[in-house]
Amino acid sequence: MANQGNLAEVQEHPNIDSYVSFFTKGGKDVFANAYNFQEAEMAKQFNMYPYYQVIDRNEAATCVIEGRETIMLGSNNYLGLTIHPEVRQAAIKAIAEHGPSLTGSRILNGTHRLHLELEEQLAGFLGKESCLVFTTGYQANLGFLSAFLKKGTMLAMDKGDHASIYDGARLGKGETVGFAHNNPADLDRVLSAVPDDIGKMVMVDGVFSMEGDVVDLPQIQKVAQKYQARLVVDDAHGIGVMGPGGRGTVSHFNLNDKVDIIIGTFSKTLASIGGFVAGEAKVIDFIKHFGRPMVFSASLPPASAAAALKALEILKREPERVGRVNANAHYLRENLLSRGFNLGHSQTPIMPIIVGDEIITLTLWRELLNEGIYVNSVLYPAVPREMSLLRMSVTSEHTREQLDKVVAALVKLKNKHRW
Ligand SMILES: Cc1ncc(COP(=O)(O)O)c(C=O)c1O
Repeated sequence: MANQGNLAEVQEHPNIDSYVSFFTKGGKDVFANAYNFQEAEMAKQFNMYPYYQVIDRNEAATCVIEGRETIMLGSNNYLGLTIHPEVRQAAIKAIAEHGPSLTGSRILNGTHRLHLELEEQLAGFLGKESCLVFTTGYQANLGFLSAFLKKGTMLAMDKGDHASIYDGARLGKGETVGFAHNNPADLDRVLSAVPDDIGKMVMVDGVFSMEGDVVDLPQIQKVAQKYQARLVVDDAHGIGVMGPGGRGTVSHFNLNDKVDIIIGTFSKTLASIGGFVAGEAKVIDFIKHFGRPMVFSASLPPASAAAALKALEILKREPERVGRVNANAHYLRENLLSRGFNLGHSQTPIMPIIVGDEIITLTLWRELLNEGIYVNSVLYPAVPREMSLLRMSVTSEHTREQLDKVVAALVKLKNKHRW
């Protein structure tokens, strides 16, 4: 196909590949990369290794790290529902009644009535005809793309999309092309080069996971419609945060009838683990039979389904939680902006503090932890090298006192390190 790009073009974007490729050094022994990999050990020696931090207890707004109560700004627990007693009780009851695992894939022995109940509730919540529950959100994207990105089809994806969309694109047999982040004009350019007889789909995140910006869905949708492309929104970070009652980014823009598929996860607002694809019943039925993770990987444990179901029930019952997380986000964002911090295009509870320099970013991460504040450190290749950042995400459960403490600590560090 002339001029339409391919996955290789997409992979030029630093967001794309796994961390491992960054350290690839080659060699005859396939383990040579592992033996040569020094960076993590070096960071540990300087007490600046920000990954795999052990968390002894998770209390949503706070956590216990190294025996100390710490403000948790590095989770996706937007409504704090992992600590809700009803959610915990639902999981305990399900594990007592149904055990820890169904020991098989959905298609054979792994479908439980809790999966069906959750699918029905989610479809109703999102205004879609049908829904299919996966074992993770990552698998939901792989499941959708392995079923529909076939030879003779093309996926146009935002270059800022989540890694699971990139990986799903690799699993699919069709072509993939990236368009510039949140840029409908570039999507138009990309789609205009695709021959008419090629089936097209466009995939975007609703809320982008690193920068916390919101997709320009009204314009993206117009372009997709112009080229008769199916439109898919991965709203992992939008459900419970965006739109009326936390119904997500698609509802926020009132585009439920124009978006074909909504994909999501239970590992954020819904306080569990698992994922889903929601859309037309015929389409969902096809994924049930041709989505590879659905057929070849074990199903979501009943306790995880029960926890997500209860979290969804609480979200519907207490929509004020959505107001609270957004009010907290607004409070923290305005406070930081007024003190000169660069928060990129953040419009949601996800707030990057763009630092730039990698060493300063790691230093800040460590010094914040020393102050009792946990954030995520995001370096190349997750972001471009000069864009190293600290990713923070607020929950509905943070108090203003806690947020004030975060602002004060950041101001102190900014004066010290002057980035
Ligand atoms: C946009 C997006 N999609 C999918 C996923 C994968 O979800 P899960 O962690 O449930 O596998 C994530 C997780 O961070 C995400 O941010």
